Formats: sequence, structure tokens, C-alpha cells
Amino acid sequence: MISISKKTGFSSKDSLVIICKEFKNDKNYALTKEQSDYILNLIHKEDKKSIILNALSRSISIILVDGSKNHYTNLETIRKHGASLCDAINADKRTTVLVVNELENIDYSLALSEGLTLANYQFIKHKPSEVKKTNALSAIHIIDSKITEKQISQLLIRIDATYKARDLVNEPVNYLNAKQLSQAFKNFGKSAGFNVEVFNKSKIKQLKMGGLLAVNQGSVDEPTFTVMEYKPKNAKNKKPYVLVGKGVVYDTGGLSLKPTPNSMDLMKCDMAGSAVVGATLYAIAKNKLNIHVIGLVPATDNRPGFNAFAPGDIITMMDGSTVEMLNSDAEGRMILADALHFAKQYKPEMVIELSTLTGAAAAAIGQYGIVSMGTATDEQKTLLVDSGLRTHERLVEFPFWDEYAELLKSDIADQKNLGGPYGGAITAGKFLEKYTNYPYMHFDIAGPAFNTAKDSYRGKGATGYGVRLLIDFFSNL
Ligand code: BES
Ligand code: MN
Ligand code: ZN
Repeated sequence: MISISKKTGFSSKDSLVIICKEFKNDKNYALTKEQSDYILNLIHKEDKKSIILNALSRSISIILVDGSKNHYTNLETIRKHGASLCDAINADKRTTVLVVNELENIDYSLALSEGLTLANYQFIKHKPSEVKKTNALSAIHIIDSKITEKQISQLLIRIDATYKARDLVNEPVNYLNAKQLSQAFKNFGKSAGFNVEVFNKSKIKQLKMGGLLAVNQGSVDEPTFTVMEYKPKNAKNKKPYVLVGKGVVYDTGGLSLKPTPNSMDLMKCDMAGSAVVGATLYAIAKNKLNIHVIGLVPATDNRPGFNAFAPGDIITMMDGSTVEMLNSDAEGRMILADALHFAKQYKPEMVIELSTLTGAAAAAIGQYGIVSMGTATDEQKTLLVDSGLRTHERLVEFPFWDEYAELLKSDIADQKNLGGPYGGAITAGKFLEKYTNYPYMHFDIAGPAFNTAKDSYRGKGATGYGVRLLIDFFSNL
């Protein structure tokens, strides 16, 4: 991980990025006349708003910010500039960069450092030949009179947490089965200071988690159910917040087998919801937030083994209700239903559940946001939407009308696990709502969780989408 620290003075040798409204050749920057004329020409003649120059001994970069434009859009532009700069700096094998904020708002220095650092992420542990290609960038210095040490340490924690979520999602199932995922959460708990309990198969049987056991039937690996709890003595909330994450460590579709290209070949990402939950608890505990939070992760792979559950099976869920399972690829809702029922015992303030649940959500809005729906209060929803704007992990609220639940009616069981041809993201949410009796939000992250092509600081592969959103939400309660 990159180190980030505050600095006051700087020398003419430092690579730097200047955040400003209007570029002026301050003598502190130690630019030659030729360099500053070149920059002024780019700005005034070519209308450039972001510049990255390789000035031999150092890199010089400028990002112009128009404070009258939308603040959130500006922050995202700055993060993306950070990502481009990260690539340039690493290409030139430079190790440090100085962020100089000439504007009043510290959000700008934080966004730039965030973009730089998130873009610097690499997943090369399985590629020994790449070790030599470890990114050179290793330190960011910030010149911003208003920024505090606490803000820097919070930034480092949310980057660390995002990296941790990405690492888990990028890990394939032959390195990360349900037990190994639970062990990773135990490690998070140990290093950040929260309690983690892992239920094994016999405990899961004893609890009658029929949905989780059904999905696990075709697997040779045992399922797990992980309960994480961070409970500070002086918690602000009497009732806990509960986070629930889909932990399908691999989704073949089961007997309703998926095709390989661009489908099954991406399905190591199907535990991304659980990675967000674990990483968020990690960050909350590291930040010592005064919030009582519980994280629940049902985990298994979904495979077409000899005893795999068959389309048409009727499954009795933990809450005693029955489900006619018409498609074994709609497995996420089966394991989440038991976790949502399990959450009732906590009488939660709100439950936020995250899952790579439907291709329909990805089809609707692509990789650009989270499909959100639920029964939380307007006040809770507004806070979440605001966190989405601040972090650019945006929420798009879908309708949660009861008509969609009618599509799940079964003639022979309480519900079927398959809706109609349309509104697939919503019928999945309505299926899950049946297992809740508290303010509930369902976040379908199938679109943004995993990129098949590089997308700025979110990178290629796992993005960690949702981690920064939830950290922001809990930090501002
Ligand atoms: N894990 C998938 C959804 C998914 C798709 C995640 C693309 C990430 C990227 C989920 O388990 C699934 O297979 N959903 C089915 C549901 C259908 C059978 C009702 C789908 O979306 O096709
Ligand atoms: Mn599936
Ligand atoms: Zn799935």
C-alpha cells in the first residue's frame, strides 16, 4: 500500500500535481519558462483541463477545477485524473508524487489521492514473473493547509478496505472456497478488532438453513455461515445495523448450467457482496466508529454435483416457508433468504444486503451504479443516496411494487424462485423481502462488482464497489 502524508515545503525535484482553478506559474513549482509557457498554451489554445507531462527528472501535472460545476462530478473527474496520473507515474517508474491543492476544499486533495491509490492496485500474486513489475509509486505527499491527519488515516483505511475486498473477489474458487472465505473474515476481525463466528455444516443443519443447504447439495465443499459483530461500548445506535452479503464463491448455475464465455468464466465474482460486507466491517472497526454493526455471510459454491438440487425441487427454508426452485441458477436468493431470516433476531435498525444477484440488474444500468430497492425509511434512503454521490458508488432506486411479488406465486409452494421474463432484478428483490420484517435495502451489484476491461481507478477485475459507499454512510451517521 502507498503511504500518504502531509507536507509543507517542496523542492524542484518533486513530481507534482497541482489542483487549481486557474494555472499561475508560482515560483514554488520551480517550472522553467519553457515549461510554463507550454502548459499555458495547452490550457488557453487547446482548452485542456487536465495535463500530465513527463518533464524528464519529474512529472508535472495540472488539473483545473471549475468550482461552479457540480461538486460530485468534479470529485469524480479528479479521481479519474489521479488514475491517469498513476499510470503515467508508474510508466516512468517514479516513486513519489506531491499533491498540491491551491483551492479551499480539501475534498479535492482527498479525491486525487484516492484516485491515485485505488488505481495503483495490483493482483499479481499468482504471476511470479510479474513481481518485478510491482508498481513503483509508493508515496503520496499532500500540500493542503486544511487537511488533517485523521482525514488521511481515514482515507488510508478506506483504500485498504477496498483493496481487501478486491483481493477476495479476484481470488478464484480453487484458492477461495466457503471455508477459506470465512477464514479471511476471521483474519479481518483479528486485525481490525471485531468478533467473528463461523458456523459449519452441522450447525447450519441444526439451524435448518434449508436454502443454503440446498444450494450446497451439489458441492464437495461444505458451506459456512459467518457472523461478524462490531459492538463498541458507546455505540450511538440501540438497534444494530445488519449487513448481509452474498457469498457464492463460484456460480456454475448448478444443473441449470451457465455457458462459459462471459458468463461462468466471471463467476468467481459471485461473492462480491460478502467481500463488501467483510471489508466494511474491517473499516468500521479500524476507524473505531461508534456504531454497532453485524455482518452476515452465507457461503457456498453452486455446482451440478451428483446430489445437486434439481429444478422443480421444493425446499423448506429456515423460516419454515417453502420454495419451488425452478432454476438452480437463481441460487443467490436461496442462501440470502436464510440470512435475512436469521437477521430478524437482532431487531435491526436497518438491514442492507449486497449481492451480485441478477444479470437483469447489470442489463438495466450496466457497470455505472447499484440497482437499489427496499423498504427502508425515506430518511435512511436519502442518507444512502448522498453517500453514493459523495463516493461515486451511486444508487439507482428501482420500484418495489407488490405486483412484482405476484410473479413469484407458486401453485405448490409458498413462492417460486423465478419470476417472469421482465423485471428480473425487482422480482429477485421481492423474493427476498418475504424474509424480512425490518427496514430493508437490497443492493444488486451484479453490474459494477467486476470489470472485464479497465475502468479508470476501479481497474480491471474486482472493483470493491460498495465498500466506499458503506464506509461513508456509517461515518456520517
Ligand atoms: N450470479 C448470477 C448473477 C450475475 C450475473 C452476477 C452477471 C454477475 C454478473 C446469479 O446467480 C444468476 O445466475 N442469476 C440469474 C437469475 C435467473 C436464473 C432468474 C440471471 O440473472 O440470469
Ligand atoms: Mn446463479
Ligand atoms: Zn449467482
